[in-house]
Amino acid sequence: MKILITGGCGYIGSHTCVELQNAGFDVLIADNLSNSNQVVIDRIERITGKKPEFIQSDLSDNGQCSKVFEEFQGIEGVINFAASKAVGESMEKPVMYYKNNLGIILNVIENMQKHGIKYFVQSSSCTVYGEPEALPIKETSPVKDATSPYGHTKQIAEQMLAFITASTDINAIALRYFNPIGAHASALIGELPNGVPNNLVPFITQTAAGIRKELKVFGSDYPTPDGTCIRDYIHVVDLAKAHVVALKRMVEKKNKEKLEFFNIGTGHGYSVLEVINSFEKSTGVKLNWSFAPRRAGDIIQIWADTSFAERELGWKAQEDINSMTLSAWQWQQKLDKK
Ligand code: UD1
Repeated sequence: MKILITGGCGYIGSHTCVELQNAGFDVLIADNLSNSNQVVIDRIERITGKKPEFIQSDLSDNGQCSKVFEEFQGIEGVINFAASKAVGESMEKPVMYYKNNLGIILNVIENMQKHGIKYFVQSSSCTVYGEPEALPIKETSPVKDATSPYGHTKQIAEQMLAFITASTDINAIALRYFNPIGAHASALIGELPNGVPNNLVPFITQTAAGIRKELKVFGSDYPTPDGTCIRDYIHVVDLAKAHVVALKRMVEKKNKEKLEFFNIGTGHGYSVLEVINSFEKSTGVKLNWSFAPRRAGDIIQIWADTSFAERELGWKAQEDINSMTLSAWQWQQKLDKK
C-alpha cells in the first residue's frame, strides 16, 4: 500500500517513514525542503534497506500538488506533516501560516477526492487545548481559543476535517501530539532546528555541545512542585508508530467515526528541571543553565490522558524520559562530528 507522506523529510515525518516502511508500507515523500534536507531520504534507506520515493513539491501550490497525485499513481492514504511550525514566527506572519498550513490540507484533500483516496492522518497538537482545566487532559476536553496563528491552524484543520469527512468518502484521524523529543536509535535521523532552537531539548543538546552558552529556564515561580512548567514529552519513534496504527485502523475499517482524535503522549508530565536532570543522568554531561523570566504564552502544565489511544488504537508509548534525552544527545553528537 502506497502512502503519501507530506513533509516526510522533516523531524516527525522522517521517523514515520521509517516505521511505515518497517510495517510493510510503500512510502512516497513530498516535501518542499524549506525546513528539511534531502539527505534524509538516504538515511531512511540506510535504516530500513528501502529507499522511499521522493518528489520536491510545494503542496500549498495547487498545480504542484495535483502533479504529485498525477505522476505517482496508486497512492492509497496520506499522512500530512507539511506545515510551518514556529509559534513566534506565526505571530509575525499570520497570513503565511494560514495560507500554507491550511492551503496544503485543502489542496491535498481535493486531490484525494479526485483520485478516490480515503485515508488521511493529520498532525495535530495538544496546543488545541490551551491551559487545561483538569489533568490529565482527555480528548473530550474543550478546545480553547488559540493563542497563536500556528495553534489556530491546528484547530481550524480539525474543524475543516469534521465537515469534509462528514460529506465525503474520506476518513481522517487527527493525532494530537504532546512534546516530541529524541531521535532514532541509529542516530541517522533526528531534529534539525533552523538557527537558534525554540524548543527545550534541542536547546539543551546544543548547549551541552557548546553551540549555545547557557540554557535559560523560563520561569521559576509557576505553581508546580519545582516552580517550572510541566509537559508530556514523547519519544519521536513512539509518536511515529502511532501514525502507523492510526492509518491501519482506518484501512482495516476499525474506526468508529469518520474523524477521530487521539492524544499521543506518554501520560507522564515532567518539569523543565526534571528534563535537565534526566539529560545529565542519562548522558553524564553537566548542563550550564540558569533561571530567566517566564516566556510569554507558555501554559503552566499539561499531560495527556492516554487511555483512549491505548484502548482504541492498541498503542502505548514505550520509551522513558532517559532514553529520550539520551537519544537526543547521541543525535547531537553525530551532527557535531560532520
Ligand atoms: C511548543 C509549542 C507547541 C508545539 C511544540 C512543538 C508554544 C506555546 N507551543 O510547545 O505548539 O507543538 O512547541 O514541540 O510555543 N523552555 C525553557 N527554555 C528554553 C526552551 C523551552 O525553559 O530555551 C521551557 C518552556 O518554557 C516550556 C518547556 O521548556 O516550559 C517546553 O518548551 P518547548 O520545547 O518550546 O515546547 P512547548 O512550549 O510546550
